[in-house]
Amino acid sequence: MSAAERPHLHSGSGRVERLLARFHQVRNFTNALCTGLEPEDYVVQSMPDASPTKWHLAHTTWFFETFILKKFVPGYRPEIPEYAYLFNSYYNAAGDMHRRDLRGLISRPTVTEAQRYRASIDSHIENLLFDADEKLLDDIEPILVLGRHHEQQHQELLITDIKHVFGQNPLHPVFRASRARHSAHAEERTATPTRRGPYRFVDFEEATVAIGHDGRGFAYDNEGPRHQALIPAFSLASRPVTNGEYIAFIEGNGYRRPEFWLSLGWMTVNEQRWQAPLYWTKHDGAWWHFTLSGFRPVDGSEPVTHVSYFEADAYANWAGGRLPTEFEWERAALDGPIDGNFVEDELFHPAPTAVASTVSAEKTAQNEDLHQMFGDVWEWTRSAYSPYPGYRAVPGALGEYNGKFMCNQYVLRGGSCATSRSHIRRTYRNFFQPEKRWQFTGIRLARDPE
Ligand SMILES: [Fe+2]
Repeated sequence: MSAAERPHLHSGSGRVERLLARFHQVRNFTNALCTGLEPEDYVVQSMPDASPTKWHLAHTTWFFETFILKKFVPGYRPEIPEYAYLFNSYYNAAGDMHRRDLRGLISRPTVTEAQRYRASIDSHIENLLFDADEKLLDDIEPILVLGRHHEQQHQELLITDIKHVFGQNPLHPVFRASRARHSAHAEERTATPTRRGPYRFVDFEEATVAIGHDGRGFAYDNEGPRHQALIPAFSLASRPVTNGEYIAFIEGNGYRRPEFWLSLGWMTVNEQRWQAPLYWTKHDGAWWHFTLSGFRPVDGSEPVTHVSYFEADAYANWAGGRLPTEFEWERAALDGPIDGNFVEDELFHPAPTAVASTVSAEKTAQNEDLHQMFGDVWEWTRSAYSPYPGYRAVPGALGEYNGKFMCNQYVLRGGSCATSRSHIRRTYRNFFQPEKRWQFTGIRLARDPE
């Protein structure tokens, strides 16, 4: 009997349907992202950090199989038990795993088999939910929701990883043809280049602020416990740093002046011979970059992206500012809308910066002066990714989701053009090592009071 024909075995008025609708929406979006990819594209691993598309398809499926089906379906027997080894990422408590840097060597299962695996697990999840009573649903729902958010994280990685794969290819493959943003708001933003101006700084007084998630709705464990933090007075730039501003840093010899760089950053710049953000090339005296819509001239009005923490920090020093702390960022984002250029806009690239110099006298709320806090580019903060006071990872394999990475990484805030709108929060803490550049990472300046 198919799920569609199945009578309701529980009283949960539409609960299962709602859970499954959301589940399928996220699962289908992953598949939709792959539209236009050829089988050869799914398999390449261009560096250890970037997993093949096929691996993302299977790993997100493994998550639901491992943490839901194996746990809640009595006598569950995986169709292909070896997938547990192949598609475990880093969960030691869930068993051994294949080497991360060798994921590109795996030609089997084929793309078709990976897609079949997805469909098979989806149908098992459907059956489980349709047969579940309310008590069982209470147990399953938090993990199902976690699995959905996990998949949305992998959707972003799938995009940045295929960008890296295509970025190595002299043919400059196009992932999606260039297009304007869907929303009217976006059209207004992108159609008014003359209104763009220099950024300004928005001032915030010293305050004690509640930091972290308040428990309403889903959040990762690393967003809590909510706690009070004293945030001294600071100022935050009204918008992210643009390509045009970053080119001034490059042309001003920023990459060759050690006084702006952290020691580790200076070592990295010299070892890696960085001269510009990832994907940038100088072509006949002008900067060009590879985008998911192909190779094109750098637009000076777009937020700069694909910069490391080291570059963000060096730029801030050069510009006479600094990076914000994650607490300053969260405080500044507290009352503003979560709006911006997200993956649903299908631009797959940061949008030109918004109006910045036209703040009218009537506007009093500080958040109205801040633009592009969400979407476009993840904003590096100067905060080390560490536990909030009182944080404890949950016991078991799912405790490995966040807690064990709280070392040698920096927090990024706000989401990017590859993040889902329904995935980001004001309290969301993304994190990467300071030398990483393949995510849509950018810069917003802060400064101390004069
Ligand atoms: Fe994962």
